[in-house]
Amino acid sequence: MSQPMPPPPSSRPRSPVPALLGIAAIVAVIAAVFAWVGGWFGGGLTPQRMADTIEAGKPHPGFRRAHTKGVCVAGSFTPSAQAAQLSKARVFSQPSTPILGRLSIGGGDPHGADAQARVRSVALLLKTDDGQEWRTAMNSFPFFVVATPQGFQAQNLASAPDPATGKPDPARMAAFLKQYPEAQKFLDWAKSAPWSNSWGNTQFNGVNSFYFTNAQGQRHAVRWSMRPQAPFEPLSAQQRAISDADFLSEEFNTRLAKGPVAWDLVVTQAQDGDPIDDPSQPWPQDRRQVVAGTVTLVSSQPQETGPCRDLNYDPTVLPDGMAASADPILAARSAVYSVSFNRREREIGTGRAPEATGTKGEAK
Ligand code: HEM
Repeated sequence: MSQPMPPPPSSRPRSPVPALLGIAAIVAVIAAVFAWVGGWFGGGLTPQRMADTIEAGKPHPGFRRAHTKGVCVAGSFTPSAQAAQLSKARVFSQPSTPILGRLSIGGGDPHGADAQARVRSVALLLKTDDGQEWRTAMNSFPFFVVATPQGFQAQNLASAPDPATGKPDPARMAAFLKQYPEAQKFLDWAKSAPWSNSWGNTQFNGVNSFYFTNAQGQRHAVRWSMRPQAPFEPLSAQQRAISDADFLSEEFNTRLAKGPVAWDLVVTQAQDGDPIDDPSQPWPQDRRQVVAGTVTLVSSQPQETGPCRDLNYDPTVLPDGMAASADPILAARSAVYSVSFNRREREIGTGRAPEATGTKGEAK
């Protein structure tokens, strides 16, 4: 009996290893290109690592990893007569656009005390009748702390409490400031700027730059802010010491019960030479400002049951007529918000529903 012949070399099953290595190499090249385009090279920084540092090993399942405590709000945007000259975005020509928003405080604690939060925030989603969306998230500070994602990562690492003292290590903070001197003016702002006594009389600033293009094809670098129509009222250090931990949402509900709360949407145009891609550098005060419309909020809802819970206010979701600048902080925000969103949604999905926010009535 003849023995079966071994298959010729060409038809022998080949090891899958070289093919897998080839695919891995292609994936690595593509990832490297994306990383380069997104400005992620330098110190092995990735969106996941930034999110890990923000969580600091103590995530609150089901919650945003930053600006964790907040409330959902709803209202509308009405453009001014000048708005359409700034940008052809539909939101600037449609008579009124509904808003799904969120008011929050900085920090990662869903039960944090409102009076201890130096930073207050707003996020808006505006969806026009053609289905386009404008998502934006602004803060009460007038400029960002640093110019780059690497700087923000360094700040979060340096300001993390030292386990021995429960406070940031002054030596690490000093080293951070030496490397990122632009942060000093943010620390000065945090120490000296007056605190307001309401979300409703706080100015919120976009700080990152964008490009607006109008129907004539004119393109301009801009930044935007929400300027409160309600007069500023200060909150003294003594008042902060005795304020209820949830005073911001309590005050906002009282304010809403009396009527809508409104802000002017102020668009500032850059001049040649202004720093477009660096949110830590404010533009000179005399730049042209145009009121592009009015943001009006009419209702508020707890975030655990409201529509903002499952929204990601990624600031690079923009309608036709608006475009993101090359500011590396903007690209980083988009990537890190996505990580935070995916983590919290996965946690909600596994049945770990977020607890009630606020310091009272903590359900579940
Ligand atoms: C590299 C810089 C930054 C990082 C890594 C970062 C990170 C984050 C993360 C992880 C969240 C939670 C997102 C979610 O789960 O949906 C968040 C929320 C937020 N961030 Fe940032 N952020 C950065 C810069 C900024 C800047 C410059 C501003 C505004 C001027 C800003 C304003 C906000 C606001 C308002 C929210 C709350 C949005 C909401 O209510 O859903 N952030 N940020």
